[in-house]
Amino acid sequence: MKGAPLSNVNGMSGLSGLKAAVTGGASGIGPATSRMPAEHGATVAVLDLDPSGAAEPLIAIKADLGDDASVRVAVETAAGQLGGLDILMNNAGIGAVGTIEDNPDEEWHRVLDVNVLGTVRTTRAALPYLRRSSHAAVVNICSIAATAGLPQRALYSASKGAVLSPTLAMAADHVHEGIRVNCVNPGTVDTPWVTRLLDAADDPQAERAALDARQPLGRLVAADEVAAAVYLASPAAGSVTGIALAVDGGMQGLRLRPAVGA
Ligand SMILES: NC(=O)c1ccc[n+]([C@@H]2O[C@H](COP(=O)([O-])OP(=O)(O)OC[C@H]3O[C@@H](n4cnc5c(N)ncnc54)[C@H](O)[C@@H]3O)[C@@H](O)[C@H]2O)c1
Repeated sequence: MKGAPLSNVNGMSGLSGLKAAVTGGASGIGPATSRMPAEHGATVAVLDLDPSGAAEPLIAIKADLGDDASVRVAVETAAGQLGGLDILMNNAGIGAVGTIEDNPDEEWHRVLDVNVLGTVRTTRAALPYLRRSSHAAVVNICSIAATAGLPQRALYSASKGAVLSPTLAMAADHVHEGIRVNCVNPGTVDTPWVTRLLDAADDPQAERAALDARQPLGRLVAADEVAAAVYLASPAAGSVTGIALAVDGGMQGLRLRPAVGA
């Protein structure tokens, strides 16, 4: 039976022997997210615009999520080299800064094309392979921007909201095929992406302190902590589908009292 309960559920060790494709696996959250299943016995292909950052044993495959033909070839190549596909991690994404007034239509199309349609394209291409797997799972890397109002993130939030909602719809559509679909909502993660934002700030040190303070744990999320959510792709999470797992230092769920008279 597809996705049958494991008699011996042992966390990530259930990943052993599975085949995974990770988009955007060459930078930031991606390398941690690709290495984690590889360290637990999965074979992993990295699909990226510039896959040169994906070191062995990862299989590096060039792909542009903005181009359907490129994605189809990359997913076919990955499945061919891996000998099938059990796990798809839709991690690649691009950022956008500004209020609803600030970005022209072209920028909206560019960001939605990668963040939303990129996820559509890879998942569409992967589904025929996932249907043949006994432990099929899709994990979308979404964002707290999908669930909390962050300043200057109108376009980026729209793109991540349009990852969160289809995660739930896909989970419903494919549940009877034994394909689980979940997403991870990181808070601000310490990656080159955030370094680029800080570099562009007037006072990078103050900006970094503000980002740290925004998360109740008082620091940015580490890429490895997002990668640990690969658990969602493992057979150990065989009864988990249609959820958004926040990995955000408490940013979404906690309402702390401001310090009084400090
Ligand atoms: N860094 C954060 O604070 C943060 C927070 C929440 C969610 N996220 C999400 O995590 C994911 C990864 O972010 P990151 O911080 O690691 O970013 P990053 O910029 O460090 O890495 C993104 C990777 O995606 C690849 N990529 C970009 N466009 C692509 C395309 N068209 N086709 C193929 N590959 C492409 C890049 O080459 C790069 O390797 C994104 O979806 C992002 O929205 C990041």
